[in-house]
Amino acid sequence: MILVTGGAGYIGSHLVKALLEKGENVIVFDSLELGHQETINVLKDYGNLKFIKGNLKNLDEIRGVFLVNKINSVVHFAGYSQVAESVVNPQKYYYNNVYGTLNLLNAMLEFGVKKIVFSSTAATYGEPQYSPIDENHPQNPINPYGNTKLMIEKIMDDYDKAYGLKSVRLRYFNASGASSDSRIGEWHEPETHLIPNILKAEKERTFKMFGNDYDTKDGTCIRDYINVEDLAEAHIKALEYLNLGGETNYFNLGTNTGNSVKEVFTICERIKGENIPIEICPRRAGDPAVLIADNTKANKILHWIPEKDLEYSIKTAYEYEKFNLH
Ligand SMILES: NC(=O)c1ccc[n+]([C@@H]2O[C@H](COP(=O)([O-])OP(=O)(O)OC[C@H]3O[C@@H](n4cnc5c(N)ncnc54)[C@H](O)[C@@H]3O)[C@@H](O)[C@H]2O)c1
Repeated sequence: MILVTGGAGYIGSHLVKALLEKGENVIVFDSLELGHQETINVLKDYGNLKFIKGNLKNLDEIRGVFLVNKINSVVHFAGYSQVAESVVNPQKYYYNNVYGTLNLLNAMLEFGVKKIVFSSTAATYGEPQYSPIDENHPQNPINPYGNTKLMIEKIMDDYDKAYGLKSVRLRYFNASGASSDSRIGEWHEPETHLIPNILKAEKERTFKMFGNDYDTKDGTCIRDYINVEDLAEAHIKALEYLNLGGETNYFNLGTNTGNSVKEVFTICERIKGENIPIEICPRRAGDPAVLIADNTKANKILHWIPEKDLEYSIKTAYEYEKFNLH
């Protein structure tokens, strides 16, 4: 059985769907603080899914999962991920992300489970020193959120050296899109991500564009938008890699290309078929001008190649917004 922490959330739910479609037995462990019971209900249509509501901050709750289930490997999405919130409330982030992960890793060791795929982030690199960013780029996070993810990566290295726990850390760039059948997608409250925020914009809730004076082709920030189903596929490849005896490793998950906020906005308007109300605001602190992944290492070692483009991600995100009124 594969344990997926945070499987009721955005990216985790897409992996759960993909695993179930492959006939795997999956257990989702999620506090539902940010994830949704409705998502779990939909996922149950795709296969053999067991859901356990619990919090990683509670060691007994996560131990209990290993005690009564035969778990072979873990994919760990559960965590908080809002950069701005992590700056004003670092305690919340270190406690949930780092302490929660320690409980998970310690429960894994106790029950002899030695394979984990972990959701890391491009935020562990901090301000880019060159572009595109490969895995040799120094990791100097510039906010507590990125620090928690880097700390977890280091803990995982030490747990491998000392206890033989093998990890694959996947450093995502900007996850985007929804499932091809529009039944699951991005559902964050509050929503901080670009595409759903543009699509949700209306007269009383305009889309806020933070900065149009960056040193980029059109003055707006450039990001690497990686489709969420492509991301899910990378996790499946990472699990296969570990099952074949692969060593601890880490990979960037992105597309090698970037799109500006203005470009994303224009595609959203075209797909929605209407003008979207927009407000130009000052830059936000800590937003680098350009963040683009070099994904060569994941291509070579995991044999992972992203297939879906930004247009497709925006189309599926729009279909999801349209049919899932939340
Ligand atoms: N969305 C992105 O673009 C992006 C980019 C880089 C990295 N990541 C990382 O990927 C992971 C998933 O991101 P997402 O966008 O799907 O987030 P999400 O908030 O939609 O999902 C996270 C899930 O984890 C659960 N959770 C949080 N803390 C928990 C705890 N202590 N115990 C049990 N469950 C808990 C939440 O209820 C939620 O369902 C996160 O770790 C995030 O840091 C996301």
